[in-house]
Amino acid sequence: MNENFQRHNAEILCAEELAELSQSFKDYDKPENWYCSPQAVLMFIMGGTLANGFKISPKYFGDKALVEIMISTLMSDRALLLIGVPGTAKTWIAEHICAAVSNNSSLLIQGTSGTGEESLRYSWNYAMLLSQGPKPEALVKSPIMRAMELGSICRIEELSRIPSETQDALISILSEKTMSIPELNSSIFSKKGFNVVATANHLDRGVFEMSSALRRRFNIVMMPLPKTLEEEVKIVKYRVGQLEQNHKVAFRDLKLGQVDKLVTMFRELRSGMTLDKKQKFKSSNATLSPAEAISIVHQAKIQSEIFGGDSHSLNQHFAQGLIQSIGQHSQDEMLLLKEYIENIIKKRGDWKDWYEAFKSVLNE
Ligand SMILES: Nc1ncnc2c1ncn2[C@@H]1O[C@H](COP(=O)(O)OP(=O)(O)OP(=O)(O)O)[C@@H](O)[C@H]1O
Ligand SMILES: [Mg+2]
Repeated sequence: MNENFQRHNAEILCAEELAELSQSFKDYDKPENWYCSPQAVLMFIMGGTLANGFKISPKYFGDKALVEIMISTLMSDRALLLIGVPGTAKTWIAEHICAAVSNNSSLLIQGTSGTGEESLRYSWNYAMLLSQGPKPEALVKSPIMRAMELGSICRIEELSRIPSETQDALISILSEKTMSIPELNSSIFSKKGFNVVATANHLDRGVFEMSSALRRRFNIVMMPLPKTLEEEVKIVKYRVGQLEQNHKVAFRDLKLGQVDKLVTMFRELRSGMTLDKKQKFKSSNATLSPAEAISIVHQAKIQSEIFGGDSHSLNQHFAQGLIQSIGQHSQDEMLLLKEYIENIIKKRGDWKDWYEAFKSVLNE
């Protein structure tokens, strides 16, 4: 592993876990060309302890049944589509599932409005094409084509950002599991194990509708926001801890009790009512996902660590982070936050420090 890189693929970062899992579950049936058995993939995602005592870290905090659906979909005829609001671990889980199933999460197409059919199928090395004519060596294979040849999973990120007519090139690939190359008068047949995991963000601006023909080729799994406060706090603390390990900065053990309150505000602003359901207000449209909370806490800890400060200043950085997340959305959202601070936060006896933190940031 090259220490100089900011980030490695999941199969490299978790190579030891994956090797242990594939060894421990070697007597279990597994689909052809899968690196780990389906049970091992489940344990890789949800975490657990192997018979030899080796600990597998959890990658996803949430419903185990949902992950079982994802894994069994990949064994079926249909492809997998993870949809949901931003920051609900769609990309994260897609990458880790590919790492465990194919030991390769790098076969990836990043969907944008500029993605053309050639990115999903193939293109040509034009210099070679012009000098030698169409021949297999001049073919530039897309990640999907390579996944078909290898019997691996291919990821498509942000499928709904690809124009609808281009998306439809996937219909025949997913139903026939072949890709024709008319110029060579040949076809690529996919090996067993090939499938597609796509992610899509159904709420964002600039997304394209999927045709019903394409929808039918996918099993669509809706990624939920965390069910409980405890679960959401656990996700934030766990991921912040992991992110810190990547830094060379030695983080002091700043008291993170305040994360509970930050996440409480996220949940209340998202749902438009207090956790005890007693007070209702207009809900926020800003993206207040676990991923956003992770970024705020991580940033606040770096700031406190490098430029000094205690738990009190950490609190102010949290407040600043929340104001920025909401403020960048719109002025209306900012008004909504100010009302929430005055009507809810101010009246909570044990939230005085938060009220003061918000006030000092807003008056700066
Ligand atoms: N339930 C969860 N369990 C574990 N990690 C989570 C969970 N929800 C969110 N995260 C964390 O949130 C971060 C961002 O997730 P990710 O980028 O996969 O979101 P996304 O759904 O793909 O968002 P977008 O729609 O913006 O692409 C990751 O670090 C991931 O670990
Ligand atoms: Mg994503």
